[in-house]
Amino acid sequence: MQKKLHEMARIASDEIKHASALEELKQIQVRYLGKKGEMTAILRTIAGLPSAERPAAGSLANRLRDELTASLSAREEELKRETHRRLAESSRVDVTLPGRKTGLGHLHPLTLVLEEMADIFLGLGFTIAEGPEIESDYYNFEALNIPKEHPARDMQDSFYITADVLLRTHTSPVQVRTMEKMAPQVPVRIVAPGKVYRRDDDATHSPMFHQVEGLVIDRSISLANLKGTLLLFARQMFGREQQVRLRPSFFPFTEPSAEVDIACVICSGRGCRVCKDSGWIEILGAGMVHPRVLEMSGYDPEECSGFAFGMGVERIAMLKYGVDDLRLFFANDMRLLQQFR
Ligand code: DAH
Repeated sequence: MQKKLHEMARIASDEIKHASALEELKQIQVRYLGKKGEMTAILRTIAGLPSAERPAAGSLANRLRDELTASLSAREEELKRETHRRLAESSRVDVTLPGRKTGLGHLHPLTLVLEEMADIFLGLGFTIAEGPEIESDYYNFEALNIPKEHPARDMQDSFYITADVLLRTHTSPVQVRTMEKMAPQVPVRIVAPGKVYRRDDDATHSPMFHQVEGLVIDRSISLANLKGTLLLFARQMFGREQQVRLRPSFFPFTEPSAEVDIACVICSGRGCRVCKDSGWIEILGAGMVHPRVLEMSGYDPEECSGFAFGMGVERIAMLKYGVDDLRLFFANDMRLLQQFR
């Protein structure tokens, strides 16, 4: 019996020594010391031994059981420490490694240009006005003296939502909203930047694009004020030597109306592919606010006059940065965008 006990204890302690996981240790414990364990079974048989053998066998069995229990818990401690050490090892931070940089965002080129444009006009005493992108027929057309048969009202050109609600096709309705709010106060000096929508899509047109509208009303505003303002703008935007030219044109909401060109920024007016050898590039539409438009929004055309203009932000950005396809601004290609950090 004693030999059997020693043999079992030796095997058990060997198994404990080689156990490499807490789970495995648990199984060993159950196998020897559990209710149906081998050691437990032997302890039970001791009662049936002859009385002379009982004490020696009993104390040996108890001693071996205690030793087994002790080495089980010692190995358990060891395994736990090892697991901890391995975890700590794998999650250790090496402070000497170079850091991982988080990419910092930056402004979109169109935002940059829009902000620069706004800054120039703020510097000239203008304030910023805003209006809704979903606009009524009245503000987008009617109050701007655009007659019912005008081609701009065609379903081909505008995104209609209902018969008289549409996505604004220009920022000019903000003129009307501003006048309605301000009339009959003067002076009015606002710029209105924002998104506009048209059914267009090619290298120089996008169904959504940006405009900056300008409106000035006071007691004696003339075409000279318009030209002076635009010249100042062009020079701050494109350089001190920049020239502008006004060409007669037509808009229902201005009289007289003009299209405004700047000397080609690519060839400085000598003539190139971009300006189609004319030396000039159109950047905006403008004019003296039509008396009927003033009147409809509450101003007396006998008392005051005004000028207005509207320009395309993408157009200005293309010229400023030498981008030849407007769609690039909306393609989200990081190779383009990252150049504007
Ligand atoms: N709204 C015109 C357009 O989208 C641009 C424009 C022309 C605005 C003349 C004006 C203006 O304020 O006076 O093409």
